[in-house]
Amino acid sequence: MGRLDGKVIVVTAAAQGIGRAAAIAFAKEGAEVIATDINESNLRELEGNAGIQIRLLDVTNKGQIEELAKEVKKIDVLCNIAGFVHHGTILDCDEKDWDFTMNVNVRSMYLMIKAFLPKMLEQKSGNIINMSSVASSIKGVVNRCVYSTSKAAVIGLTKSVAADFIAHGIRCNCVCPGTVDTPSLRERIQASPNPEQAMKGFLARQKTGRFATAEEVAHLFVYLASDESAYVTGNPCIIDGGWSM
Ligand SMILES: NC(=O)c1ccc[n+]([C@@H]2O[C@H](COP(=O)([O-])OP(=O)(O)OC[C@H]3O[C@@H](n4cnc5c(N)ncnc54)[C@H](O)[C@@H]3O)[C@@H](O)[C@H]2O)c1
Repeated sequence: MGRLDGKVIVVTAAAQGIGRAAAIAFAKEGAEVIATDINESNLRELEGNAGIQIRLLDVTNKGQIEELAKEVKKIDVLCNIAGFVHHGTILDCDEKDWDFTMNVNVRSMYLMIKAFLPKMLEQKSGNIINMSSVASSIKGVVNRCVYSTSKAAVIGLTKSVAADFIAHGIRCNCVCPGTVDTPSLRERIQASPNPEQAMKGFLARQKTGRFATAEEVAHLFVYLASDESAYVTGNPCIIDGGWSM
């Protein structure tokens, strides 16, 4: 018996990194996963996995989100994982960078929750898991100005939804990782002027001496998606190898 048998779970940003690991872990535990992303070719790699159906979805596109919400007849868990990392201080962040990050990282979750929550309310049960970060209201991190602002907003959004709908059988939590070894982290390191130095810098801030794996973060998603966490809501769940302690 799987820990998520019979649950329908919608996942955003499922084509790579943590979203992909979460989608695979959910399906292994018996969930019916609707794995969404804008990257069709990466998404297709998930097609062979039992329990996973794929769907193109741009989380900044209100029309696409509403269409998907109409199609999905039952939803137990909504996982809002899509996010973008802008590198720099406030002085490096143009208005277009600010707007882009807030749009992908925060407005997307506002749109997704607004579209799927009515169905959860009808069902009198639902579970929302948002992706935040310890680079947020939890920890000041250099060169992550708009990113941290957006991830702090995700914590606020999470607590607010949890508080407003707790009496309706809805839970809402967020996951706050430290540094996770994903394709986009590798790309950011490679794109820096001195990749070797950048890798050392990223590793130096890890008290464990290593990054988290996407699969380790996926384990936390499975717990939050399952009924094992029925008493957990409004919680920013930190998984950072002690970075923020
Ligand atoms: N990797 C880390 O160290 C780390 C740490 C803390 C939090 N996070 C957060 O975890 C989440 C996933 O990060 P990751 O590093 O695992 O993934 P990633 O950056 O490697 O991949 C992101 C995925 O999001 C998709 N995506 C981008 N824009 C989209 C859009 N508009 N609509 C739908 N999908 C879109 C991409 O196609 C890609 O598949 C992000 O919210 C990120 O901020 C990551």
